[in-house]
Amino acid sequence: MSATQYRVGVLGCGNVSMDHFTGWQRCEGAVVVAACDPDISRAKMRAEQFKIAKVYDSPAKMFEAEKLDLVDVVTPRETHADMVRMARDHKVHALCEKPLCPTLAEATALVDEIGDSIRLMVNENWRYRPYYTLIGKWIKEGRLGKIVHYRISLKRENMLRNAQGVVPALVRQPFMAKEERLLVAESLIHDIDVTRSLMGELDVIASRLGRGSDAFIGENIATILMENKQGVTAVVEGVLCSAGYHIRAGNRIEISGTRCSVLLDNAVVKLFGAEQEEHVFDETEMRQKCFDLSIQHFIDRVRDGKPFWTSAKDQLGTLKLVEDTYNMAGPVRQHV
Ligand SMILES: NC(=O)c1ccc[n+]([C@@H]2O[C@H](COP(=O)([O-])OP(=O)(O)OC[C@H]3O[C@@H](n4cnc5c(N)ncnc54)[C@H](O)[C@@H]3O)[C@@H](O)[C@H]2O)c1
Repeated sequence: MSATQYRVGVLGCGNVSMDHFTGWQRCEGAVVVAACDPDISRAKMRAEQFKIAKVYDSPAKMFEAEKLDLVDVVTPRETHADMVRMARDHKVHALCEKPLCPTLAEATALVDEIGDSIRLMVNENWRYRPYYTLIGKWIKEGRLGKIVHYRISLKRENMLRNAQGVVPALVRQPFMAKEERLLVAESLIHDIDVTRSLMGELDVIASRLGRGSDAFIGENIATILMENKQGVTAVVEGVLCSAGYHIRAGNRIEISGTRCSVLLDNAVVKLFGAEQEEHVFDETEMRQKCFDLSIQHFIDRVRDGKPFWTSAKDQLGTLKLVEDTYNMAGPVRQHV
């Protein structure tokens, strides 16, 4: 191990930790030295898969025993604030999974409390997907002219029972069955965050939520109407009970510009109008790639002291839109 490598502890060895451990394995400048989960069998499994020296069944024990530089918080949302506080108490910089906290109020209080005591970044990894950053670059270069309309949608059938009676979303993330705030808080938060990164700060104008699958208590249909500071309409839609759509389908984005428009569909992104450009991406590769890029960004910005693109403070903007979406939606429309 080179002297310049940061020592990392990972808290939480559940479903999405696989993508985190893979990202840490591929990054430059850091090495995971410990894995922690109250379910020690999960920590041991990841330790075996990724050749990690130590496992712990309690975060406190891990922080006490290891001299960590960085911690990666990959635990359920309601535990994030306590994990971040523990990192602060041990002067360890933290990368925390989204959402930073279950509510905007809790997240705001946490950001105020942490201040500059440690570096704190949120893993809003979708933003780092190369097809979104390419669209962002086109917008910045003015190639779309004036943007007049924006739409992003996520359609999957993963919250419907399949022919075998299995609900694919629950195989990966069983905890979702009991989440009252489901689609927007867990998944569309990414689409909202991507929209902020492309369109600037937004306000929610109206929203509607629906439930189209009896396997969940929360919403799995959402339509959010937003507007940016230039008065451009941005529509964010998610329907995870859409029969016939792939269970891990990516986003569709349509942006209308006065010079060029953009279409992202099935990981193919096109610029068309005054000029034509087309780029084909691999959706499966992009899914892991955004974890790799987000983790590398965290390491690099800790090292050079520059601001994080997806700082904890920045996350408050996304969480405000999530909160406003729930507040404006009224009762969840029941379709089951
Ligand atoms: N960025 C993304 O694309 C993405 C994708 C899926 C999930 N997530 C987020 O990642 C987080 C984890 O989701 P998941 O699907 O892996 O959940 P999960 O339930 O599969 O895994 C969470 C793990 O954390 C462990 N845990 C609970 N409390 C802990 C503690 N105090 N210390 C250490 N471990 C603890 C649990 O035992 C479990 O193994 C959530 O915040 C979720 O929203 C992000």
